[in-house]
Amino acid sequence: MTHEFLRLAGVRYPIVQAPMLGVTTPEMVAAVAEAGGLGSLPVGGLSPEKTEELIRQTRKLTSKPFAVNLFAHRIPEMPELQAMREFLDDLAGDLGLAVSAELPARHYTYSDQIEVLVREQIRFVSFTFGVPDDEALNRLRENGAVLNGTATSLKEALYLDEKDVQVITVQGIEAGGHRGSFLEEEPLPQVGLMALLPTVADRIQRPVLAAGAISSGKSACAAMLLGAAGVQVGTLFVGSHESRAIAAWKEQLQRAVDTDTVLTRAFSGRWARGLRNEMQETIEASGIPIPDYPFQNSLSTALRQEAQRRDDGRFTNLWAGQNPFRAPMEPAAAIIRQLVEEMKSLELKNKVFIE
Ligand SMILES: Cc1cc2nc3c(=O)[nH]c(=O)nc-3n(C[C@H](O)[C@H](O)[C@H](O)COP(=O)(O)O)c2cc1C
Repeated sequence: MTHEFLRLAGVRYPIVQAPMLGVTTPEMVAAVAEAGGLGSLPVGGLSPEKTEELIRQTRKLTSKPFAVNLFAHRIPEMPELQAMREFLDDLAGDLGLAVSAELPARHYTYSDQIEVLVREQIRFVSFTFGVPDDEALNRLRENGAVLNGTATSLKEALYLDEKDVQVITVQGIEAGGHRGSFLEEEPLPQVGLMALLPTVADRIQRPVLAAGAISSGKSACAAMLLGAAGVQVGTLFVGSHESRAIAAWKEQLQRAVDTDTVLTRAFSGRWARGLRNEMQETIEASGIPIPDYPFQNSLSTALRQEAQRRDDGRFTNLWAGQNPFRAPMEPAAAIIRQLVEEMKSLELKNKVFIE
């Protein structure tokens, strides 16, 4: 299955740099692509214009293939927002920040972006938070794109398999950032990678990528022993030179310990894993119902952006997986090289993992 994945993705190594909206830059994607991995450009929820601009910027930096990543959720009815809006405005006021909690003129979805991906001839399209509708999937397929969905349970993986999605990323509960769960959000699937990966790999005859706290050649090889065709690595790249994460975020990762991450809906209205901080704790302690994604995400954006501008890690999301302290402050290409070298040295003993 590793060979099948490498063929489908057109890359040398079975290592995917996870798409990380707000962190991944075209420079990161290009550096990973040039180093032989699969770089992933996140465009979830962006306008068609911004999507096109980022794809073109990446293409200027590399002629190698890369993935483009969409959010495939549906937008729910607008919930009651006033209490949360007032709470966030008061919080910003207490901090002396001149920002207010607003919704954007519109929320974009994948259906606004499909034509851009088709026009730009994107050959590898990954998605999370659900599955695009059949019309969108067919449009991408007819254009020659390989499809890669995200599953957080066996049921979701079987659903993707049924939809003929060629590559399935299984996201363990260890993973940093948003949960990709889409069939059963309540209760949220909380399966660890160690359990989920072999369960899915045994049932599905397709390349399966493993995501969640993979932070060394050893853990990557362990995932491949459990049936993964390749690995998808996020947090390890958050500290990289090409990352847009603020300095406070990168530094906090270095000091973090294994118990510092928590799952929260406080920032966006969707479950996500990040370093525990003041904004998350304050919102949760308020007891105010947190509006569903994307509404809470939009309401909290102005405050988070202002905190980022001030390099203040207390009032913005600090997404990280359960191995946060392993994220090195190095070029992305060096991170890929290190993973490859570690995997190769393990291969000397086992002769199975990587070519
Ligand atoms: C900062 C950050 C942002 C993320 N954004 C996205 C995203 O835009 N799209 C996506 O499919 N996954 C996203 N993820 C989840 C990753 O695809 C992946 O599941 C996760 O990073 C794996 O766990 P790890 O961070 O422990 O390596 C994000 C993860 C992080 C850490």
